Amino acid sequence: MSITRRELIATAAGLTAAPVVKNFPHIWVPQSSIKPVVIASGNGNTVKHDTNETCVQRAFRMMTGGTDVLDALVAGVNIVELDPADTSVGYGGLPNAEGVVQLDSCLMHGRKKWAGGVACLEGVRTPSLVARAVMQHTDHHLLVGPGAREFARRMGFTIESDLNTDASRRAWLEWMRRTDPGHYLDPAKRDGDAAALSMIEDGWIDPEHYYGTINCNGINDKGDVAGVTTTSGLAFKIPGRVGDSPILGAGLYVDQAVGAAGSTGRGEANLYNLSSYLIVEELRRGAHPKDAGIAALKRVAANTEKRLQLESGRPAFNLQFYVLDAKGRHAGVVMFGGGRYAVCDEAGPRHEDLVVAF
Ligand code: GLY
Repeated sequence: MSITRRELIATAAGLTAAPVVKNFPHIWVPQSSIKPVVIASGNGNTVKHDTNETCVQRAFRMMTGGTDVLDALVAGVNIVELDPADTSVGYGGLPNAEGVVQLDSCLMHGRKKWAGGVACLEGVRTPSLVARAVMQHTDHHLLVGPGAREFARRMGFTIESDLNTDASRRAWLEWMRRTDPGHYLDPAKRDGDAAALSMIEDGWIDPEHYYGTINCNGINDKGDVAGVTTTSGLAFKIPGRVGDSPILGAGLYVDQAVGAAGSTGRGEANLYNLSSYLIVEELRRGAHPKDAGIAALKRVAANTEKRLQLESGRPAFNLQFYVLDAKGRHAGVVMFGGGRYAVCDEAGPRHEDLVVAF
């Protein structure tokens, strides 16, 4: 390794921020003056539920007040999970094909190298808190279905018989009215999205909430990096369907030395590519968060089967990534169209534009 005496002194004095050690691109020189920041999908700065703060605002306030970075992020996403008006996350999330709300979440703590997740969890409004309990109180990473619910009950969580709201139940009834046995794809046509897409066109489902989800990532002034993703998953999914959100490497990945990435959008596409892990590895090679995220979207596009492509070859579905590196640099990227992601730092909470891949 070659690092000059001048670089060494300057680094120690906080005067420089050399991203990598020369010839050792996988080794990051610790940053001396990190500006804390929290980023999230756009709903992280719109939903306030019954508080006067948004997700990113609360997480940033708590994190900079000394709360552990992951605890602060979880407290932030709890706002969105508890809000019935966000029909893509937690309580009031759009149910599966049998009308049951099943929730997924995972979280990861960079410095502690701890992670936990739940999938197909029923009856608990805040799956991120159950994921955290899996992380804190078990030797496992991922609990699913009735096992996850029983674990939550034993951990003292209130188990509710139904997490639907009137709105989510009415949307499900409309789904049942429109759908037919074709819900299970005809191998010749494979057009299972048709009913749901027509409901989006007719205003029954917010296009942002078909896959929905919130991902929230943060770094504190000590350089502790963490992330959390939580969702009710794909609206009207086959019971038992698990998307990308609770799967490490897909819906979320954190590496204390490098950064964090998480996603919203079509989980199946992300699972095919383990994009959050891919993005973190791009960061490790020195890529800017924007370039790392765009590289993942291009990889997803290249790995997309024909039925999911437009004539132009571009994927017909959308996918977003929220990327934060260990220097506090961040970006949100989207396959197409545009949109915004949430940010909170010392300048306050706001939205910034997503960078568009196609
Ligand atoms: N990204 C959320 C899901 O596909 O379940």
